[in-house]
Order: sequence, then C-alpha cells, then structure tokens
Amino acid sequence: MAGRILHLSDIHFGCENKDAVEAVLNLAQNEAFDLIAITGDITQFGRQDEFDAAAAFVRALPGPTLLTPGNHDVPYATPGRLFSPFARYKQAFGDPWLTRHDAPGFSARAFNSARGTQVRLNWSKGSVWPDQARVAGDELKAAPEGAFRIVLCHHPLMEVTGGPMTGNVRGGSMAVGILARRGVDAILTGHVHTAFAHALPPEDKRTIAIGAATLSRRERGQPAGFNIIEWDEGCITVMAQGWTGSHFETIRTWALDRKR
Ligand SMILES: [Fe+2]
Repeated sequence: MAGRILHLSDIHFGCENKDAVEAVLNLAQNEAFDLIAITGDITQFGRQDEFDAAAAFVRALPGPTLLTPGNHDVPYATPGRLFSPFARYKQAFGDPWLTRHDAPGFSARAFNSARGTQVRLNWSKGSVWPDQARVAGDELKAAPEGAFRIVLCHHPLMEVTGGPMTGNVRGGSMAVGILARRGVDAILTGHVHTAFAHALPPEDKRTIAIGAATLSRRERGQPAGFNIIEWDEGCITVMAQGWTGSHFETIRTWALDRKR
C-alpha cells in the first residue's frame, strides 16, 4: 500500500498568509490526498470570527480531513480560557480530544496536546496525559498488519534540535515511548513553525517525527509552508513546501526508512 498526506499547520486564521492559504486550497482541490492533516493553531486568538474563517476553509477542503487544536485555539483571555477553553473549537470542528480516520491500509488518530491553563507560567507549552497516548496507540495497534499508522498533535513531543522554540511537552517522551511500542509510524506536529523530519529515539528508531511550517505571517526563519508526506511499504518521504511569494516550491525532502 502507498499513499500521500497533505500536512498543514499553524494557519492562524486572523493572521494567515492569505495568498499562501489560497494556493494550498487550490492544490487540495486539484490533487488527490488520502488525508488532509491539520496540526493545530488554526486560529490566532481563538476568536469566533477566526473560527468562522477556519471552518469555511475546512469545509472547502475535499476528502478526509483530521484536525487537532493548538495552544492558540483557546480564548486569549479568561473566563473562556479557564472554564470552557475548547468550546469554540468543538462547535467548529467537533471533539478536541481524540478524533480518528481509518481507511484500508491507513489509520490516523489526533489527540490534543494543548491546554487552556496549566500549573506553570507558560500555558502555550504542551502536555500529554499517559491515557491519551495509550488510547490512541492501542487503537492504532489494532489496525491490520502493514497499515500505515500516524498520530497528529500540535506540539512536537520531543524537542526539535536547532528549532526556533521549544514545545516543552509535559509527558512528551513518555508518550513517544508508548506510541513507538505500539507500532506508530509517524507523529505529525506543528507549533515551532519550521519543517522537520527525523527518527525519534526509542528503541526501534523507526517512529518518525514530522513537523510542518506555518501558513501564517508568523514565520520563524522559514517561509510559510506545509508538507506533502508520501508513504509506501519501505519508506516515508516528507517534502517541505515553501512559499516564494507567488507559488510553492519544494525546499527540502527527507526520505526515511519505514517501521517494519
Ligand atoms: Fe503556531
């Protein structure tokens, strides 16, 4: 089995790169993808008008789409952030905590690594509870032999070497171990606004971390962009696309061995 995924992240509606977003929509409507994965920060300040724009964008996408919230997708101020941080996200996109996509030879789970508040000063950082990783991992493990298994969440679960910022995810390396032991092929994330792909440390060295750049104007040393991810029986190929100002072009490609 082989397939391809359109991996978008950090569109930050309210602060989106309008030309780049329009070009991505055009691409999505004219090429075939097995899944369109959106790994959080779909809004800038979690405002209703931003969610309305984000929902219109997602409705215009063809084919299966799987989303997860990011730290920007909660109301910027209390009391919404305190008492119902994901109410607007839920109204626009459904369950913020765990969503699923299953097709022949391919299974994906999206879980929420963002929190409205945390017991630490920086609430933008990530957090994963052991049960989140266990439930998603167990469901993926139950997929048929040879299926391509992926997880989506917003924050990179382990730090990105040389990245422009940290995810500092509580429970991140624990979650990676749980997912790797259950045969997860790849973990797709956003948050740092730069593209990357590398094998994660756990014993099998075959669970791949994949990050997508931003489609907003909040660039961090890399142009606005997204990833095209292709897989077959032996390989995962990640093609990072960068916005030139008029069109996208491939700015970097990684080809990594697939878990067997
Ligand atoms: Fe972001």
